[in-house]
Amino acid sequence: SANSIVLGAPAGQPVQSQSVSKEVTILYGSQTGNSKGLAKKASQALEGIGFKATVSAMSDFKPNNLKKVQNLLIIASTHGEGEPPDNAKSFHEFLFGKRAPKLDGLQFSVLALGDSSYEFFCQTGKDFDTRLEELGGTRLYPRFDCDVDFDEPAGEWIQGVLGSLNEALGGSSSAAGIPVHAGEVKAAESVYSRTNPFQAEVLENLNLNGRGSNKETRHLELSLEGSGLSFEPGDALGVYPVNAPALVDLLIQELPWGKEDPVNVKQGDIRPLKTALTSYYEITVLTKPLLEKIAQLSTNLELKELVSEGNEEKLREYIDGRDLLDLVQNFGAWGETAQEFVSVLRKIPPRLYSIASSLTANPDEVHLTIGAVRYHTNGRERKGVCSILTAERLEAGDTLPIFIQHNENFKLPNNPDAPIIMIGPGTGVAPFRSFMQEREETGAEGKSWMFFGDQHFVTDFLYQTEWQKWLKDGVLTKMDVAFSRDQAEKVYVQHRLQEHSKELFAWLEEGAYIYICGDEKHMAHDVHITLLEIIEKEGNMSREQAADYLTAMQQQKRYQRDVY
Ligand code: 2AM
Repeated sequence: SANSIVLGAPAGQPVQSQSVSKEVTILYGSQTGNSKGLAKKASQALEGIGFKATVSAMSDFKPNNLKKVQNLLIIASTHGEGEPPDNAKSFHEFLFGKRAPKLDGLQFSVLALGDSSYEFFCQTGKDFDTRLEELGGTRLYPRFDCDVDFDEPAGEWIQGVLGSLNEALGGSSSAAGIPVHAGEVKAAESVYSRTNPFQAEVLENLNLNGRGSNKETRHLELSLEGSGLSFEPGDALGVYPVNAPALVDLLIQELPWGKEDPVNVKQGDIRPLKTALTSYYEITVLTKPLLEKIAQLSTNLELKELVSEGNEEKLREYIDGRDLLDLVQNFGAWGETAQEFVSVLRKIPPRLYSIASSLTANPDEVHLTIGAVRYHTNGRERKGVCSILTAERLEAGDTLPIFIQHNENFKLPNNPDAPIIMIGPGTGVAPFRSFMQEREETGAEGKSWMFFGDQHFVTDFLYQTEWQKWLKDGVLTKMDVAFSRDQAEKVYVQHRLQEHSKELFAWLEEGAYIYICGDEKHMAHDVHITLLEIIEKEGNMSREQAADYLTAMQQQKRYQRDVY
C-alpha cells in the first residue's frame, strides 16, 4: 500500500515485513511551555494530513515504551548551563544510561529551543539528536536549533518533518507545502498571544524596598481588562520591553547613519533607525553567533581575529558584560547601510516574569515582582532592559505589550488539602503570593509553610504585611525568614530548612509538595543539596536513596521549581 514500506530486519533475525505506521510520538521537554505549545502545533499539523500523533511531556512518557515507537519527534529546550529542563531530566538520563535500548527501527527528528546568548546553545536538543543516532535511530529530518525568536524556524521544521514523513510513507512530499505558523499557538480563550501581545495598562508601579536598601524591587500591577486572558498561579507573564532611549542615542551617535534612516524591520514594515533600535532589535546582549556574523560584514581585522578559531576563551570574555555600543566603539560599525547594520541583530526577546497575583483574587489584573538590574562593568553603568524600563520610565496609564506563558511545571496541588512548602527568597517570592491569594480565595485547607529570605529585615521583607496577615488568618501555617545581612554570618533559606529538618521531613512524609522559586545557580542548587541532606538524615537513608526520594517526588510533581 502507499502507506507502508518494508524495513530491513536486523541481521540474524527472521526477515519480517513491517509496515511503517502512521503513528507519531511527540515528546516535549520545557521549563516554560514553549515546547509544549509547539508539540501541540506539530500534532495538529500531523493529524491534518492523516497521521496519528501522541503528545506527551518527557516526564510522563514511560521510557521502556521507546522500543515500540517508530516515528519520534523531540521538542526540547535547554536550561541553565546546557542542562535539560526539569521535566526532561529523567528521560535524558535514561537515554544516556546503561538501560538505554537499541533503537534500530526508529525514525526521529529533533527541534531544539534555546538562547544563543548562552554558551551551551540548544545543548539538550543536540544531546537528544546525537544520542538517538548513536542508539541506532535514523534521522528523519535534520535538527533545527532555534534562538529566542523561534516561531519561523519552528514552523519550518514542522513543515519539513511533515514532508519527510509523507515521503517515508511513499507519498509525495507535498505536505511540505502546507503552511504551518508556529506562532499561531494560542490559548483558546483569547486572541492575544506571544505573537499578538495585549497592550496592558499600568495600574500601579511601586518600589517594595525601604529607604537605604541595596535593592530596588518593583511591584507592578497591570490591567487585563478586555483581553480575555486568563492564567493560573504558577504561570508567567511575557513582557516585550523597549531599549533605553539614552543607550539608543549613544549608539546612533557612533554610527555613520542618521536616526531617521529607514530600515526594514520585517517584510513591508519600514521604520526609522532610531525606532528600530529602540523597539525591534536587541542591543544589550552580545552572542557568539552574532559576533561571527558581524565579523563577516566588518572590515575590522581585530574583530575578525577575535572570532577566529583558537580565540574562544578571549571571545567569551569579551562578550561578557558588553553590549552593541561597546562593540561599535571598539571595532567600528559594520555594513554599508543602516539596513545592513541591523540585518544581523536579534529581535528583542520578551522577558518572562513569574506572576505574583491570583486571577481569582484580582480579576482582570496581573501583578509582577521585578528586581531592578543595575551594575557597573567595562567602564559604564549597565541596566537591565525590562526591569529598568519598569523602574525608571513606566508610569500608571502607560501600556506594556504582554502575553501569558502557561507553566504546567509549577502548579498548586489539585488537592486543596495537600500541604505545600514554598521556598522563595528575593523576587522568588512572586508565585507564592499568587499561591496564597488563590488558597485564601478558594478556601483551601491544606497546611502551608513559607521560607523567605533577603538581605535586611527592615528594608527588604517583600510583601511583609501580607504574609503577616495570611499567618494570622491561618491561610499560611508557618513562615521562616532568613535575612542574610542582618548579622555577621550569612543566613540563607537553606539554613532555616536545616534548622527544621525533622518537621520538614515529616511534612514530606505526609505528602507535602515542595516549590522553589528564584535564583537557580546558587540558591536553588544549594537548597536542593540541603533537601538531600535532610532526607538522608531524617529518613535514615543513603545519599543515593535520598536522591531517589527526591526524583520520585519530582515524578509525582511534588517537587517543582521555577528558577532563573
Ligand atoms: P546575600 O545577597 O546577602 O548573599 C535574596 O537575594 C537573598 O538570597 C539574599 O539574602 C541573598 O543573600 C540570598 N542568597 C545569596 N546566595 C544564596 C544562596 N546560595 N542560597 C540561598 N540564598 C542566597
